[in-house]
Amino acid sequence: MKSLMTTVLTVLLVSLIWIGGHWDGTLGAGCSAAEREALLKFKADLEDPRSWLSSWVGQGDCCTWSSVVCDNHTGHVTQLHLGLPRPSYWHNSVLSGKLNPSLLELKYLGYLDLSYNDFHGIPIPSFLGLMASLNTLYLDGAGFGGLIPHQLGNLSKLQQLGIEAAADYVLYADSLSWLSGLSSLEFLDLSKVDLSNASDWLDLIITMPSLSELYLSHCQILHIPPLANVNLSSSLSALSLYHNQFGQTFVPSWVFHLKNLTYLNLADNTFAGTIPAQLQNLISLRTLDLSFNYFNHSVPNWLYGLHHLEKLDLYSNKLDGRVSTEIGNLSSLIYLDMSVNYGLEFERGIPDSFKSLCQLRSLSLQHVKLNQNVSELLEILGVCASGTLQELSLPSCQLHGQLTDRIGMFKNLNLLKLQNNSISGPLPISSGEMKSLYHVDLSRNKINGRFPTSFGALAGLIYVDVDISQNAIHGVVLPEIHFANLTKLAYFFASGNHMVFKAKPDWVPSRHIQILNLESWYVGPGFPHWLKGLQYLSSLDLSNSGISEQFLTGSGACRLDSII
Ligand SMILES: *[C@@H]1O[C@H](CO)[C@@H](O)[C@H](O)[C@H]1NC(C)=O
Ligand SMILES: *[C@@H]1O[C@H](CO)[C@@H](O)[C@H](O)[C@H]1NC(C)=O
Ligand SMILES: *[C@@H]1O[C@H](CO)[C@@H](O)[C@H](O)[C@H]1NC(C)=O
Ligand SMILES: *[C@@H]1O[C@H](CO)[C@@H](O)[C@H](O)[C@H]1NC(C)=O
Ligand SMILES: *[C@@H]1O[C@H](CO)[C@@H](O)[C@H](O)[C@H]1NC(C)=O
Ligand SMILES: *[C@@H]1O[C@H](CO)[C@@H](O)[C@H](O)[C@H]1NC(C)=O
Ligand SMILES: *[C@@H]1O[C@H](CO)[C@@H](O)[C@H](O)[C@H]1NC(C)=O
Ligand SMILES: *[C@@H]1O[C@H](CO)[C@@H](O)[C@H](O)[C@H]1NC(C)=O
Ligand SMILES: *[C@@H]1O[C@H](CO)[C@@H](O)[C@H](O)[C@H]1NC(C)=O
Ligand SMILES: *[C@@H]1O[C@H](CO)[C@@H](O)[C@H](O)[C@H]1NC(C)=O
Repeated sequence: MKSLMTTVLTVLLVSLIWIGGHWDGTLGAGCSAAEREALLKFKADLEDPRSWLSSWVGQGDCCTWSSVVCDNHTGHVTQLHLGLPRPSYWHNSVLSGKLNPSLLELKYLGYLDLSYNDFHGIPIPSFLGLMASLNTLYLDGAGFGGLIPHQLGNLSKLQQLGIEAAADYVLYADSLSWLSGLSSLEFLDLSKVDLSNASDWLDLIITMPSLSELYLSHCQILHIPPLANVNLSSSLSALSLYHNQFGQTFVPSWVFHLKNLTYLNLADNTFAGTIPAQLQNLISLRTLDLSFNYFNHSVPNWLYGLHHLEKLDLYSNKLDGRVSTEIGNLSSLIYLDMSVNYGLEFERGIPDSFKSLCQLRSLSLQHVKLNQNVSELLEILGVCASGTLQELSLPSCQLHGQLTDRIGMFKNLNLLKLQNNSISGPLPISSGEMKSLYHVDLSRNKINGRFPTSFGALAGLIYVDVDISQNAIHGVVLPEIHFANLTKLAYFFASGNHMVFKAKPDWVPSRHIQILNLESWYVGPGFPHWLKGLQYLSSLDLSNSGISEQFLTGSGACRLDSII
């Protein structure tokens, strides 16, 4: 009996201890009064013209307030989602003011996002360094200025840190040694932070064992240390040194040791010479951006062995010579830009090997000599990429032949730039299938024939920028037919053709038109009455258009720029 009692008591006691150990007084009943008060104090110091935090009132459960996330079991506030998507379009309706240290009451806060608000250049408050539970801190583009406080180096649990500076305020660091305290850091974005005095920036790559993504674009770094004797076994998978204008022409060799890189952005620096062969060690690369440098000689063949590449950007270098057909080995390519490398050419135009580029969304080869029949080119691309291609930019590529209705098979194309080639024949824009098209430039070709009525069937042309100037298109354009469905047409350049523009007296043009260039079209003899419907017009060119009605200067030709 006695032992039974003992057993019962023991069981009871054990149960009580068990409950006690798991009972923290909240039972998932929402946030504590202390945390609610902390949030209210925090809100009181913010300006919130959009009343974003209007639910932050009263004595209720602050876990139900907007942007607040609590732990389901304990009711503690764990996340504050107060960031905006970039870029913030409502520049006057973002959060501003100051950050009240009441945030320190949120002892379990792991996630704090204030990105793309506008704190008008106030310093990042050093008390943030005391929020020991933070694992994620995003202050990107939030308008902080001044010195980044070293105290942030106390956040030993931090895994993600984004402090990209906003364009309007100078944020700087005199040293980055404080980063050595962030031993869990995986993601670091210091883009646009002035690091010109933080000469120890590279040490952080070596000293941070978990760092996986490092973004240092626009940091005014003047010099990349060579790091001669260091063995980098870096965990880095993404590195951006975009736009630092290092005063050196060689890519430092330690970059080639970062074997785990999938993303490497060296764009807009002063690198020159051959594209360094050691880059072929970086076999995991998916993005390689070398644009806006001075790389010269030919594009090396080994580049086409980096078969994970999805984005290859060589825009604006000094590359020349022939591009090998093996470029088609890059079957994962989504984005390819080799534009503005004068002297670069494809021997027989886009090769058949492009038939296996089934992911291709964007192809830009401006000023690369293709010397190819445009319909052959479209046939090759159409084999696999007709459904994926969104941007096709081939100005000044020495294309010839006719642009047939085949172009209509690229149903998701939104940008088509073929200006300054020798494309002939009639305008193919009879395909009303191209519902996504918004930017078309066919200027400076040899297109002739009549301006097609079916142009107006391109109802998908949203905010279109259409340029068909400097061709030999002719015919009478009745806008109520040709432009009937282009209700969002914004820019229309069609000068240098042989067209007559006839509008019914009651025609109302697309009111979105901002720029209209009908130079050398016959519009006259009267001054077009429909101009008054164009409330957003900022530029109009009707010169040499046969208008003889007296207007302003009284000359037969008139050119009006920047009409407001
Ligand atoms: C907390 O509850 C929400 C809503 O019921 C649920 O979506 C979320 O997954 C839960 N989170 C956890 C960590 O259990
Ligand atoms: C926080 O960082 C500052 C500057 O790095 C340092 O002086 C201070 O001792 C740190 N505080 C704690 C609690 O670690
Ligand atoms: C860099 O250091 C120089 C010399 O101490 C100083 O004049 C300058 O303001 C500093 N600039 C930044 C951005 O820290
Ligand atoms: C770098 O690492 C490799 C292989 O782990 C080793 O053979 C080499 O000696 C190391 N070099 C230096 C300078 O530590
Ligand atoms: C490199 O990536 C592989 C696969 O993602 C991973 O297993 C490995 O740990 C990484 N290396 C380092 C040094 O982080
Ligand atoms: C290529 O660039 C290097 C480095 O600037 C330069 O020395 C060399 O003369 C250039 N070669 C050519 C052919 O332009
Ligand atoms: C491209 O693929 C062909 C055929 O598979 C192969 O022979 C060639 O070596 C590849 N080229 C590169 C640069 O990887
Ligand atoms: C037009 O293309 C030719 C090559 O076909 C090129 O020489 C010329 O510079 C280009 N014009 C413009 C304005 O880009
Ligand atoms: C261009 O290619 C198309 C389709 O292959 C063909 O019908 C046409 O004759 C070619 N034009 C020229 C000028 O070679
Ligand atoms: C305008 O769109 C309608 C509906 O899609 C279509 O029936 C009509 O033919 C189009 N008008 C012109 C001029 O293409």
